[in-house]
Amino acid sequence: RMQHVILCGGSGTRLWPLSNRQTPKQLLPLFEDKSLLQLTYLRNRPACKGVLAIAGAAQAELIASQLIDEGAQVRCIAEPVGRNTAAAIAIAAFVSAPADILLITPSDHLIGTPDRYAAALDEAKRLAEADFVVTFGLKPTYPETGFGYIHHQGNEVLRFVEKPDAATASFMLDNGDYLWNSGIFCARASVFLDELLQHSPAIYHAASRAAAELVRTGSISREAMIAIPSDSIDYAVMEKSDRVKVVPSDMEWSDVGSYEALTQALTQQFQYSNDQAVFIDSDPGNSTVIGKNKLVALVGVDNMVVVDTPGALLIMQKGKGQVIKQLHNWVAENR
Ligand code: GDD
Ligand code: MG
Repeated sequence: RMQHVILCGGSGTRLWPLSNRQTPKQLLPLFEDKSLLQLTYLRNRPACKGVLAIAGAAQAELIASQLIDEGAQVRCIAEPVGRNTAAAIAIAAFVSAPADILLITPSDHLIGTPDRYAAALDEAKRLAEADFVVTFGLKPTYPETGFGYIHHQGNEVLRFVEKPDAATASFMLDNGDYLWNSGIFCARASVFLDELLQHSPAIYHAASRAAAELVRTGSISREAMIAIPSDSIDYAVMEKSDRVKVVPSDMEWSDVGSYEALTQALTQQFQYSNDQAVFIDSDPGNSTVIGKNKLVALVGVDNMVVVDTPGALLIMQKGKGQVIKQLHNWVAENR
C-alpha cells in the first residue's frame, strides 16, 4: 500500500472571513462536521498504509488532532516557515523509505465520486511502481489560470504548463487535448528525489539538509527551512521532467476555491441546510447562510452568500466570489 503525504500549508484567502491565517479552509469543520483535511484522510485511507502530514508549525497541532480524531496514526512534520510544495514534498520524500510509493495530496480538495477516484488511484499506483511520476488529469471546464494544464495522449504527457496566462488557458481549453492538473501526485520517494535532483538541484540539496536535521533533532530550524528555495512542485519538477505520466479521470473534483464552489458542494454533496436562517420573499434554495452565531433573516433577496463569523460579516451576491482574495488582502493591510 502507498504512503499518504498530506500537504497542509497555504493560507486560504479565498474563503475569508471563514478561513484566515490561523484557520485555513482545510481545517474548517464545514462538511457534516468534518474538515476537508479529515475528508482527505478518510478518502485515501483504504489505499494507504500510513499518513504523513506536512504543515505550517502554527497549524501542526490542530492538524494532528483532527487526524487522530479520525483514528489516524499520523506523523506530522512542522515547517517553521512555508517554502512551497517542492520543499514540503522533498522533505517528506527524504524521511520516507526510498522504495515507498508516496501518494501526495493537497488537504483542501473535495472529490465527489469515490469509485472513480479509487480506480484512478489503482492506475496511478501501477505507473508509480514502474518508476514514473504520476499526476491525475481532469477535463477542464473553463479557462482557469490558477491551475496546471497537461497536454496528453492517453497516459503520455506531451507538455505540462503551470498557471498559464488567460489567452493560453483559453487555447488549451478549446484544443481538447489538455487536462487540468489535479494537484495529486504519486511516485516512489526515490524517483521523486531523482527528478528533483536533476531539475532543481538547489531545492534537493537544501531539503536534504533540512530533512537530516529533522531526523537528528526532531525538528527543522528556521534557518534550514529558509535555505530551501521556494518553488512549487509544478514548476520545479512537473514542467521539466520527462518521467511524468498522467491518469485521466472523470472524477468529480473541486478545489473549493470560491464561495460558489463551496456552496455548490455543500448543497449537492452534503446535507447542508440553512436552518439558522429565515427567508421571506427569498428562495432558500439559491442562497447559503454560513455561521451559527445568530439568527439571520433574508428578505426579498436571492442568490446570496451570508457568512457570519465573530470577527466579520460577509454579505455577497453569488458570482462575485473572485473578489474575496482582494478583499482579504485589503483587510489584512487596513484592519
Ligand atoms: N506543507 C506545505 N507547505 N504545504 C503547502 C505549502 C507549503 O509551503 N504551500 C502550499 N501547500 C499545500 C496547500 O495547502 C495545498 O493543499 C497544496 O499544497 C497545493 O498548494 P496550492 O497553493 O493550493 O497550489 P495551487 O492551487 O496554486 O496549484 C496546484 O494545485 C492545482 C489544483 O488545485 C498545482 O498543482 C496546479 O497545477 C493544480 O492545477
Ligand atoms: Mg490550491
